[in-house]
Amino acid sequence: MNLPPRVKLVEVGPRDGLQNEKQAVPAAVKIELVQRLQAAGLTEIEVTSFVSPKWVPQMADNAEVMAGIARQSGVRYSVLTPNLQGFEAALKSRPDEIVVFAAASEAFSQKNINCSIAESIERFAPVVQAARAAGIYVRGAMSCTVGCPYEGEVAPERVGYLAGLMKGIGVQHIGVADTIGVGTPLKVQHAIEATLKHYDIDAISGHFHDTYGQALANTLISLQMGVWQFDTSIAGLGGCPYAKGATGNVASEDVVYLLHGMGIDTGIDLDKLIDAGQFISDFLQRKSGSRVATAMVNKRLNA
Ligand code: HMG
Ligand code: MG
Repeated sequence: MNLPPRVKLVEVGPRDGLQNEKQAVPAAVKIELVQRLQAAGLTEIEVTSFVSPKWVPQMADNAEVMAGIARQSGVRYSVLTPNLQGFEAALKSRPDEIVVFAAASEAFSQKNINCSIAESIERFAPVVQAARAAGIYVRGAMSCTVGCPYEGEVAPERVGYLAGLMKGIGVQHIGVADTIGVGTPLKVQHAIEATLKHYDIDAISGHFHDTYGQALANTLISLQMGVWQFDTSIAGLGGCPYAKGATGNVASEDVVYLLHGMGIDTGIDLDKLIDAGQFISDFLQRKSGSRVATAMVNKRLNA
């Protein structure tokens, strides 16, 4: 097996995790969560989105959250920007990285960002140009790379097509997302292979929701292909409000346990990560979605 010696996790809990929450989550709680995540050793945190507050009310406090974080050197803070309006608003918050997000399926593109795939690329192009001119790194996310809640299975060719469009407008890194967590390892492999036609393995990350419990298996096959960057979410929070039936992302705690168990370095302190997960689960008054966190908290209680 050809496994990478080190893996970078991009913690998406504050953004993907909380965007779907119906209950109000005060900015102070989001800020505290980010503090705890960076204290646990996360070096890249997707903090918030500069999207329409009418579409995603939970992210309306984007600027307040960005302003409240005590930035730590060596940590990169990213935000989602769907258009120039969002990018210009985000600029004031000095993100290290922005994320433009497109979909491999037309129906999901319409539902999520209210435009076709082609229109989304037209909208992103000036955002990418402006970001790069300002020295801000540009990551792209491709939703529905194996399945779509509205169109069903998505062919790898459509993933390759979208990856080519993203590359063409200057997106520097690309995330292969299983938005609704329906993927199984070989399907994920095919989506990554299609992406590899346009992006180097070092510029590809995996973003796996865990709706059908396949995310760790999908992570493992990606690792075996040489992917060494993954988006994960504390306590397994997450879901997109416009992806019917999607539940949380793969839990950060579970991925860290998997990686450390295979001798792969992450730079993350699993105990502190568990504490961060407990903090947000307690706030939300919900059981953690992480199996590892549940097991380790039980072990602590019984010690
Ligand atoms: P639209 O309605 O077509 O936009 O929405 P518009 O340009 O026609 O503008 C309409 C109104 O929205 C105007 O306000 C604009 O000012 C405002 P009004 O005049 O009506 O008061 N507006 C904005 N406000 C704040 N920030 C902005 C912005 N843009 C316009 N950036 C839009 C298009 C993209 C804005 C909308 O569809 C939207 O906000 N969608 C967000 C969807 C979203 O955040 N989804 C979740 C994140 S993606 C995800 O979770 C998937 C991922 O995790 C990977 C995976 O798992 O697949 C990344
Ligand atoms: Mg997602």
